[in-house]
Amino acid sequence: MIYLKTPEEIELIRKACVLASRSLGEMAKWVTPGTTTHKIDSIAKEFILDNGARPACLGYGGFPGAVCIEVNETVVHGFPSTYCLREGDIVGLDVVVELDGFNGDMCYTFPVGDVDEGVLKLMRTTKESLYKGIDACREGHRIGDVANAVQTYVERHGYSVVREMCGHGIGRKMHEDPEVPNYGRRGTGPLIKNGMVIAIEPMVNLGSRNIVIESDGWTCRTRDRKPSAHYEHTVAVSGGETHILTTFDYVKEVLGDRYI
Ligand code: MF3
Ligand code: CO
Repeated sequence: MIYLKTPEEIELIRKACVLASRSLGEMAKWVTPGTTTHKIDSIAKEFILDNGARPACLGYGGFPGAVCIEVNETVVHGFPSTYCLREGDIVGLDVVVELDGFNGDMCYTFPVGDVDEGVLKLMRTTKESLYKGIDACREGHRIGDVANAVQTYVERHGYSVVREMCGHGIGRKMHEDPEVPNYGRRGTGPLIKNGMVIAIEPMVNLGSRNIVIESDGWTCRTRDRKPSAHYEHTVAVSGGETHILTTFDYVKEVLGDRYI
């Protein structure tokens, strides 16, 4: 069941999204060799709580962190840990903020120090594929148009799209209908209507698309252990227009010329 949102509800979701965006900016300051992923998690947790909101991942289905942390071959749902970031790593930080009963969800994959040019290219392409998906997310189109736009762009560049994990509707709950896959056929799937709010989140692998879930029941990694990148925005369709409710501007401010 897809819950269409009123303009007022979309404004509340936007507030949650802005806070999520600011929290990602705070985390960005700590993405450097030598920082533990635990530290990044605690920075985000404190920032979100201090701003009167809740890190929605914490405790969700038993998830132990405030943020999902995705180092190198981790695709999604990595736990914060004592792992120290190292020069050449990439790290995806996926954060969901619940503010006044509404959720905002986003993810950015960061380079840690100097990163291999081939991996930087994977990251750029993944981020660009997110914007291809957003571009296809228009009133009157279908979810399959979004999915196909992402898949086509990614595969044209020689990378592969993870099938098992999808984007999703979002609102009062972090995960609502519809599912928003990153692969599919144009003209298929639910119709995109005014009031629809979705998280679009391509997860793109350098090597094969296959994944493995670790024995902790959460951590999803590439089977071939090659790197994977992940970018995500929360997007609303309202008044015939598509609005990106989250922003990478705060990350950009921190990274300066290292911004991808
Ligand atoms: N953006 C992630 C998702 O949509 C957030 C997951 S939070 C978790 O799956 F608690 F489920 F890990
Ligand atoms: Co999401």
